[in-house]
Amino acid sequence: MAQSSRPDRGAKIWNGVIANYRERIEITHDIAPVTLLEGNTPLVPAPRLAHWIAQEFAPASKNADFELFIKYEAANPTGSFKDRGMTTAMTQAVADGAKTVICASTGNTAASAAAYAARAGLKCVVLVPDGKIAAGKLAGALSYGAQVISIDGNFDDGLRMVREATEHAPIALVNSINPARVQGQKTASFEIIDVLGDAPDWLCLPVGNAGNITSYWLGFKEYHRDGLASKLPQLLGAQAAGSAPIVLGHIVKNPDTIATAIRIGNPARWHEASAALDESDGHICAVPDEAILHMYRNIAKIEGIFCEPSSATGLAGLARSLRESMVDLHGKRVVCVLTGHGLKDPDTAIKGIAAPIMIEANITALLKVI
Ligand code: F0G
Repeated sequence: MAQSSRPDRGAKIWNGVIANYRERIEITHDIAPVTLLEGNTPLVPAPRLAHWIAQEFAPASKNADFELFIKYEAANPTGSFKDRGMTTAMTQAVADGAKTVICASTGNTAASAAAYAARAGLKCVVLVPDGKIAAGKLAGALSYGAQVISIDGNFDDGLRMVREATEHAPIALVNSINPARVQGQKTASFEIIDVLGDAPDWLCLPVGNAGNITSYWLGFKEYHRDGLASKLPQLLGAQAAGSAPIVLGHIVKNPDTIATAIRIGNPARWHEASAALDESDGHICAVPDEAILHMYRNIAKIEGIFCEPSSATGLAGLARSLRESMVDLHGKRVVCVLTGHGLKDPDTAIKGIAAPIMIEANITALLKVI
């Protein structure tokens, strides 16, 4: 017999991060949020990947039996974690009366800013490093209608330029130096604790301009302060070896890595990132491109989770730290943030991997190859 009402699946309707965490988000709340219903991303258990990492990187160690969860930020509307901070930054920009927003970007911020600006009816200008932006990100920024400006320089040059531009023209800056960005991005920590019931032992993530590590730490501290978590996690940050200013302790003039999203030589939130790493008794390490790509391929193959190379840097850093006995993960619960979708960078995905097998269109040919 047909049911007269829908079954209660226990799910609450999700209206985006501002609606869900309104009282914790310090922005102007007197206008309707500019939102694409971002957030509420999956926290996926990844036991096969945890097992593989232990076997591959620390086979003789007793410190490698850990529980792993993936915070899959690729599931946000434009395919990266940037949407969390863009809903807050764009809402604040509209409340402040802005007509134009601007940012420098390695790609994901550009796509996200473009989408949220479209949603708000604002003009969006993005500066990207010429030739160093993945195809899916450029496709997004252009499709959402931003004015995309390619500069003969890197992200750090772009950030300097947009900072200066906002001093000369009435334009809102939506890079993560904008405090409203951090207010949105910290909600990822809230979601992790809301799902797990407490903070994890370790939170592992890639570090570029250092806005995200700053935001996560703020979120964890707030929930802990208010008694919603019994502990704080240790932070494990990872940078690409060719773009590792925080690890090296100095600015990198010409950063270089296949992980173009984190190709940054002078992070704007360097100081906050260092403080968060210190306060959390954390660890930051540098990972060569080959190790990033090795992890990137294996996350997809082992768990069916596809992220972009920069995102895999966090887990590559965890694996490296385990191998070098820099961390003891025995019995620990680890959350690793996968920051952006694998489809953002189809060129890297296809390069160096077995191409499809070509066969005749008949069953004999098919049975021969499978
Ligand atoms: N992962 C991805 C996929 C990113 O796009 C970024 C940063 C990071 C990690 C690092 O985060 O900068 O907060 O430390 N992308 C910025 C951009 C720089 O312009 O899209 P961070």
